[in-house]
Amino acid sequence: MSETTHDPAPTHDRDGRRTFCKLCIGGLSVASAATVAYPVASFLGMPITVGANKPVAVPLSSLAPGQAHYAEFQGQQIVILSDEEGQRVFSASCPHLGCNVMWSPADALFHCPCHGAVFNSHGQVVSGPVSASLKKVPFEVKNGVIIVS
Ligand code: FES
Repeated sequence: MSETTHDPAPTHDRDGRRTFCKLCIGGLSVASAATVAYPVASFLGMPITVGANKPVAVPLSSLAPGQAHYAEFQGQQIVILSDEEGQRVFSASCPHLGCNVMWSPADALFHCPCHGAVFNSHGQVVSGPVSASLKKVPFEVKNGVIIVS
């Protein structure tokens, strides 16, 4: 009878494979985290653009009545609303946990997509898990242009 022997791989080969596997798993983990983090950061309105500290200037003539205009100011989304009652500017950040609210011209309300908070056209709470109004952003109107600076 002949007995065959099966030698395990040399130690340096096993260490090399183990290191390679660790690098692959680490790389995949970083890629997965980045794939999830970027859209989440974008959705939550975190500052991800350059030049966010510039003043915002929007001509009144470009604002359709009852429509909202979104812009970025000091690293956050703001929303400029113009209707028959005049112009108002709010932070688009929901005071609950910071998701950006969406203006709905159909019902003239701001809706938070995260937990369902609803605000009226003056930023006051209508319903939802929040007690604070949308934060007002100071602005001025000069020569027919809304300026947030
Ligand atoms: S973040 Fe808007 S309701 Fe929760």
